[in-house]
Amino acid sequence: MNFKENFSLKQLNTFGINVTAKYFNTFNNIEELAEILYDKEMKKENRQLPTLFLGGGSNILFTKNFDGLVLKNEIIGIKKINEDADYVYVRSGAGVGWHEFILFCIKNNFAGAENLSLIPGNVGASPMQNIGAYGVELKDIFYELEAYNIHEKKTVVFSKNDCAFGYRESAFKNKYKGQFVITSVTFRLNKIPVFNTSYGAIEEELAKMKIEQVTIKAISDAVISIRKSKLPDPAVIGNAGSFFKNPAISNEQFQQLKKTFPNIIGYPVNENETKLAAGWLIEECGWKGYRKDDAGCHEKQALVLVNYGNASGDEILQLSQKIIESVNNRFFVKLEREVNII
Ligand code: FAD
Ligand code: EPU
Repeated sequence: MNFKENFSLKQLNTFGINVTAKYFNTFNNIEELAEILYDKEMKKENRQLPTLFLGGGSNILFTKNFDGLVLKNEIIGIKKINEDADYVYVRSGAGVGWHEFILFCIKNNFAGAENLSLIPGNVGASPMQNIGAYGVELKDIFYELEAYNIHEKKTVVFSKNDCAFGYRESAFKNKYKGQFVITSVTFRLNKIPVFNTSYGAIEEELAKMKIEQVTIKAISDAVISIRKSKLPDPAVIGNAGSFFKNPAISNEQFQQLKKTFPNIIGYPVNENETKLAAGWLIEECGWKGYRKDDAGCHEKQALVLVNYGNASGDEILQLSQKIIESVNNRFFVKLEREVNII
């Protein structure tokens, strides 16, 4: 097997952090993956190497060189595999770009995924944190996935229930952490669209675009336009989207906070909890637009930390720690990082 050594990952993470992998390889199918994982030469030298599976690198912060094996999933192919009266079932390889999958849905008039347009990264990582945007989460269109158990050397099928999806959470970030590589995801999409324009900004954008008849493509265009106006393009400024999750607190704590901060932004999660807009909390603490050397807090979206060029992962991590402390001191709310720190 041809392993690249001391391989630069700078182009393979959207933060643009300049780190290397001790060994690097790619795989196009499960057979290649198995060959790499059980490579005789690597075993002969008896390396107990930590392994990292990489998709588009858009939800990762590298804080140091990776002293192990980085494997980039390049399993491609999108196919309609089944249909019934109401739904089509589409299977996509894990290495397919997420937005490429969205474009496939739009082209074929398959509905349900359009609100998730333009999220960076690959299909294989989408279940990891149950990606979400504009009123829709991956779980709403998820049917099942296949993953390879790297210890037991076999493929396992996971239903929606098995994945234990939550807000930016799944079983793969928790009890199955480090055990599985997701190789394909099957989606269940609507033949007859049920549009979700519950997120206020979508309605506004459709009106601005003078759309009279809502279509899958129109929603996708509206979402793309909103995203482009708010979020920094990683090709221009390094970032990994929201660095923190929006925290949920008790309704009681929310009411208390509202007395001191009448403009605080919160949305009900269930009858007991309210989800706060972390971007607002961070902005209120004065971090929006902050920059120290090349590490900063984005000027249009305080939830997004950025690398203006040559920041190290550690500088970004330290900035995130300061933000966590300052939000905690002011609001008694503990922010949790969304990005995977490596
Ligand atoms: P990577 O960053 O490569 O990996 C993320 C994690 O998953 C790592 O721990 C990795 O080891 C693991 N992993 C990756 N692939 C596999 C696999 N096949 N099997 C097992 N483990 C795997 N996220 C949202 O939810 N909503 C948004 O609106 C959103 N907007 C964003 C906007 C910008 C500008 C950016 C840069 C990011 C945004 N994100 C958003 C975050 C990110 O795009 C998603 O989390 C995406 O799903 C990450 O995909 P990836 O392929 O880049 O994963
Ligand atoms: N806000 C501020 N200041 C800021 C940023 C936001 O006051 O600097 C306020 C906004 O005015 C708005 C509220 O916070 O009232 C929410 O902001 P926005 O609609 O931009 O969404 P968000 O909560 O910041 C979440 C997701 C995004 C997703 C959008 C759209 C999380 C952690 N982030 O951001 O996901 O695209 O909603 O649905 O849930 C990601 O996960 O990487 C990501 C970008």
